[in-house]
Amino acid sequence: MSISTLDNNTSTAGRTELAAGDNPLLAVTGADLQAPLVSGGAVRYANLDYGASAPALVDVAEHLNDVLPYYASVHRGAGYASQVSTSVYENARGIVRTFLGGRADDAVIFTRNTTDALNLLAGCLPAGSADVVYLDIEHHANLLPWQQVPHRSVVAANTIAGTLSALESELATGNVALLAVTGASNVTGEVLPLRELSTLAHRHGARIVVDAAQLAPHRRIDLAADDIDYLAFSGHKLYAPFGAGVLIGRPDWLDAGRPHLAGGGAVQEARLDSVTWATGPARHEGGSPNVLGAATLARAAQILGSLDEDRWQEHEQALRSSLVEGLIQLPGVTVHTLFQDAANYPGTGTIGVVNFSIAGYDAGLAAAYLSAEHGVGVRDGRFCAHPLLRRLGLPSGSLRASFGVGSRRDDADRLVAGVAALLETGPRVDYVVDEGRWVPANDNRSYPAWAPNTPGTAGAAPCSLT
Ligand SMILES: Cc1ncc(COP(=O)(O)O)c(C=O)c1O
Repeated sequence: MSISTLDNNTSTAGRTELAAGDNPLLAVTGADLQAPLVSGGAVRYANLDYGASAPALVDVAEHLNDVLPYYASVHRGAGYASQVSTSVYENARGIVRTFLGGRADDAVIFTRNTTDALNLLAGCLPAGSADVVYLDIEHHANLLPWQQVPHRSVVAANTIAGTLSALESELATGNVALLAVTGASNVTGEVLPLRELSTLAHRHGARIVVDAAQLAPHRRIDLAADDIDYLAFSGHKLYAPFGAGVLIGRPDWLDAGRPHLAGGGAVQEARLDSVTWATGPARHEGGSPNVLGAATLARAAQILGSLDEDRWQEHEQALRSSLVEGLIQLPGVTVHTLFQDAANYPGTGTIGVVNFSIAGYDAGLAAAYLSAEHGVGVRDGRFCAHPLLRRLGLPSGSLRASFGVGSRRDDADRLVAGVAALLETGPRVDYVVDEGRWVPANDNRSYPAWAPNTPGTAGAAPCSLT
């Protein structure tokens, strides 16, 4: 497999040596997209919203084009294209298992996304099961499915040590079936100590599920080494935005659990008023599978899996440092974090997510300004983590810049320069609230000819609104 790795930090005679983070590490689609400005003209779009949905890797998009001519039904056809499609789909499971360091018998189930995967697992808790325990820092995807089964929540402390100890106390009270934790916070980007958490869960007779929606695109994961029972992630955050996600984990609960999608493919035998369900991934994958989603997700997993880990981490940490150092020197800017003792926990630290507020500016207004006047895309709001934002004293939200292998230092510099200009001179145009979102009062920016031309109305995400 050849990968389009970009020449990030090699030096050539006569050329200035590049530092980690100066250039993208891998080529992504849309890297040179032009974003129109409200004042006229256009600039290269600085995409600092990878945490919501990352752009496709160019290799992944090319792989999609390779697979498309062979696209046909999976598990349902004797034709050549059907057989190729079935093979691509089934092989994707093994690629994902390898990418995550899974055990040989771990089930790999393709879902729509992380939300779907965690809901699937919630439906497979053994009947009459004990409680699920989760932290208050979770994304709604790792919170709301557990509210529908017996559950208990634990407030995270401002240290990892304190958080582990609060979880330990809760688990020690007994009757816990599952500990549900995020691998990395989608709000602050801080990574949790997975090995310590799985040891803790197992010591008290519980299993552990990791929501790796944010972790998987940034860090190498080793399910077997960290003794993690279940893990979920989404292709669209892993540079493969074609509609697939994954739940991987121990097969016993999954083989006995309620089929996630009742329908064709999920059965061994159906009768008029009864059914014998299949076991294995098929039990939960009723209906025609998303072969292109699985193929592209597997391709992204192969590419990230073959990246040099040091180079990968240097790239992301260099960008994070640029951003954080640039932002905190600005008056009134606060960068939000949860834990004060990450240095004591090897393998934790922070992924490519920086959460911040600007004193005197509503997060929604600042995000609209950065987009309209600087062509910088960030996320604002409550990040589908309402309990945490409430506890952090940010009930109307904050700003989040997130980045990855396709990002470059100029993206970080553009954000810092945009915030500095806001603090110095304020916005140059007027903004109003339209349907709950800040937008320029007079917005003439147009969309591509093939897209509905209604600037300002996109992005009213329910999770953003207060
Ligand atoms: C930590 C975390 N978990 C779960 C999700 C849900 O992912 P999806 O929308 O792909 O289901 C997200 C999405 O932002 C996330 O950041």
